[in-house]
Amino acid sequence: MNPLASTYLGMELRSPIVASPSPITGRIESLLRLEEAGVGAVVLPSLFEEELESEATTFHERRELGAGVFSEATDFFPDVELGHLGLERHIALVHEASERLSVPVIASVNGRSAGGWVRYAQDLVHAGARAIELNMYDVAVDPDHSSRHVERAYLDLVLAVRTAVDVPVAVKLSPFFTSFAHFAVDVARAGADGLVLFNRFYQPDLDLETLDVLPRIELSHTGELRLPLRWIAILRPRLPRTSLALTSGVASGTDVAKGLLAGADVVMTASEVLREGPYRVAGMLGELTEWMQAHDYESVDQLRGSVAQHNVKDPGAFERAQYQRVLSSWH
Ligand SMILES: Cc1cc2nc3c(=O)[nH]c(=O)nc-3n(C[C@H](O)[C@H](O)[C@H](O)COP(=O)(O)O)c2cc1C
Repeated sequence: MNPLASTYLGMELRSPIVASPSPITGRIESLLRLEEAGVGAVVLPSLFEEELESEATTFHERRELGAGVFSEATDFFPDVELGHLGLERHIALVHEASERLSVPVIASVNGRSAGGWVRYAQDLVHAGARAIELNMYDVAVDPDHSSRHVERAYLDLVLAVRTAVDVPVAVKLSPFFTSFAHFAVDVARAGADGLVLFNRFYQPDLDLETLDVLPRIELSHTGELRLPLRWIAILRPRLPRTSLALTSGVASGTDVAKGLLAGADVVMTASEVLREGPYRVAGMLGELTEWMQAHDYESVDQLRGSVAQHNVKDPGAFERAQYQRVLSSWH
């Protein structure tokens, strides 16, 4: 028996560490190295709704232009498919990764509204993706949009993707919802087979000389683990049939152990492999194994969820008590 085996989205994985989308999972060479290092699965970088829509628009514009000038215009683009650039690149990567890797390849799509673009998710599945991760990244800036409105749009999107594909769908969420537990359950009811907690919001900076807005992408630090850890522990007993993946701040085998103890089925990592390279995964698996042996755990299955809030009758009161405890622990 493989002590590190885990199950995620109905797939049997050889280890509980999954490579989260990043430039490292966007190249076949580094995907192969991640596999060698022992990942259980890989998630490829997201294909964005905007990429698909602009490609579709360009195609239509070119077609319209041609139609007005040449009677045989349709012959100019006989074989051009919608979404031929970004989509093709993603499809090619999914296809090659699925052919060359033995671990499951998960494709990611990023959007904020249900629309025609969603059907392209099925192209990624045809290319070999074993599951789809729907990365919902949106900053709700319109004061006329209530939280109800924003959540409804998200749920419609989950349903649209769920309907478009015939493989499991995981939904990657941000923590910024008024009643996160309620929304998480709604997402599962809308058809998500798994939740990936949490997306990180990238915060731009200002250049004080040029007054330009600077895109800033900072790699995570290990303290960021604590937010998803708390929510996985809260949600595990409430979503017993939904796969849970933890992402943010995972940099060591003991971080992986914490995620599993809280109730995650898998733990994802991106920043640490960007910092240290794909083979860092092997080190993390070694640290996890060492910790399990030192604490008499025989398998990942045995330790999963041991500290989830199964027996906490009033999680709200528990959280307030923890808050009081932490404030008074400062010396
Ligand atoms: C450079 C970079 C690119 C990323 N690209 C994507 C992406 O395409 N899709 C996605 O869902 N997440 C993306 N992420 C987020 C990571 O997959 C991950 O969820 C996040 O960084 C938190 O995990 P970490 O603390 O292990 O980095 C990216 C992160 C980084 C640093």
